[in-house]
Amino acid sequence: MKVLVATEKPFAAVAVDGIRKVIAESGYELQLLEKYSSKADLLGAVADADAVIIRSDVIDAEVLDAAKRLRIVVRAGAGYDNVDLAAATAHGVVVENTPGQNSNAVAELVFGMAVMAVRNMYNGTSGTEMKGKRLGLQAYGQVGRNVARIAKGVGMEVSAYDPYCPDDVMVADGIKPVHSVEELYAGNDFVSIHIPATPETKKSIGFDLITKMPKGGVLINTARKEVIDEEGLDKALEARADLKYVADVKPDSAEELKARFGDRVFFTPKKMGAQTAEANINAGIAAARQVVDYLRDGINKYQVNK
Ligand code: 3PG
Repeated sequence: MKVLVATEKPFAAVAVDGIRKVIAESGYELQLLEKYSSKADLLGAVADADAVIIRSDVIDAEVLDAAKRLRIVVRAGAGYDNVDLAAATAHGVVVENTPGQNSNAVAELVFGMAVMAVRNMYNGTSGTEMKGKRLGLQAYGQVGRNVARIAKGVGMEVSAYDPYCPDDVMVADGIKPVHSVEELYAGNDFVSIHIPATPETKKSIGFDLITKMPKGGVLINTARKEVIDEEGLDKALEARADLKYVADVKPDSAEELKARFGDRVFFTPKKMGAQTAEANINAGIAAARQVVDYLRDGINKYQVNK
């Protein structure tokens, strides 16, 4: 059996060593396709793979058509919007993710970017502190919970809006539940976005929501660029010179926004949230174990296309 690790943005070498060990112990063969620059490379590599481990790599119908032996795709990470689930199901391919394995890394980056924003991108001018400020989490999943843990340590007041999470879970964690997304934006100095990109959430954050933020508001996006209505964001930053937007998911209009709003916006060149040795080890090795569990024992606990 052949397990392909196809990562345009590679895992840390130490994580690849761990994946190699898990695959070797199971008696399977590992193939690495890292930093590939064309889809043709991926199409060639999947041709004889029984399993594929990916990150944000796109697995669409064309890739699935080319992967004649494929039985399972594991997305080493949380969001699986890069995999065509309907096509995978039609091809009889199981799709899994590795929930929670990289969430601390993303949560720490939220703080890195938040501090950078309130210290005026380290430009030498006087900024503000995080302690005592209000942080709103848009979704209280694995990343949101890690952000909340860090924020409480910093001395922030934390609230969250998550229609899928019962209030008592938040209350038990010392988080104030809020019951509308408008209330979340209106009531917080910082809002950190942790929703997935789905047909319902795409372009759901625009002018009306962003301009609800109080004076000096900072919007932090480590989730997906697609959830932002970029035209609305542009208008909001234009209308409110006090607002800032920092993102680990570069908008399509990044250059324009940077040119127009300078240090009020910041974008990492490539998604960096999960780019730590620890997160790569956690997610990469979990993915390798899930592949073996499925191929050897049919275990599909983390399947997302059931
Ligand atoms: C995720 O969904 O797990 C994160 O966005 C990380 O994605 P990456 O593995 O492509 O960095």
